[in-house]
Amino acid sequence: MLVIGNLKMYMTYEQVKTLIANFDEEIVLCPSAIFIPYFLNHRYEVGIQDISMYDLGSHTGEISACQARQLGVTYAIVGHSERRKYNQETNEEINKKIIKGLENNLKVILCVGENQGEDKENVIENQLLNALKDVNNLENLIIAYEPVWCIGTGITPTNEQIEATINFIQTIIKKKFNSNVKVLYGGSVDKDNINTLKKINNLSGFLIGKASTDYRQLKEIVASLRD
Ligand code: PGA
Repeated sequence: MLVIGNLKMYMTYEQVKTLIANFDEEIVLCPSAIFIPYFLNHRYEVGIQDISMYDLGSHTGEISACQARQLGVTYAIVGHSERRKYNQETNEEINKKIIKGLENNLKVILCVGENQGEDKENVIENQLLNALKDVNNLENLIIAYEPVWCIGTGITPTNEQIEATINFIQTIIKKKFNSNVKVLYGGSVDKDNINTLKKINNLSGFLIGKASTDYRQLKEIVASLRD
């Protein structure tokens, strides 16, 4: 099972140092970009929480896939709901970012998921087809199913609901791209629900936010997935 910790913008420099001093397991950690150099050369791989849709050039504040790759970053999260919110990131931009990430040999984690009350299948199908326009090789693409109403809320769907949604995602990808894809679940995953969630049949792993900032909890989660 693939475990990806999305540390978001939760951590201070002191907290980052504590995490690094106490945690070294084979997962993927995605810290704030400014802290990435501290996370390199450990047992975990390093991901970036967002990448630019551009290569190099006059784009203040942006970080490109090629820069990240050169430093040793191997994963990139694209289309997280916290970035889609308020149209900070449009479908078109998400599509360009995915293409840049894949071109630069990053493993790209595309986040999809519905808001509460939305037509889940319709929303997810649209997100997938828009994000993956003109993407030909899905070998390095991973999809994270993250229902927006479950992120940071302590609520998770039932295993049956998650399994059905993963099936739906895999069916679309098979039909449109004739490809198989790994699907992760994300949204309020923690040490208490991991033993239930890990029983989902077609699941390839987890994208973990808040719980991944606590190295003790993260260790418990990794240990539980090893059993
Ligand atoms: P959470 O976040 O685990 O804190 O709910 C997950 C995510 O946003 O990727």
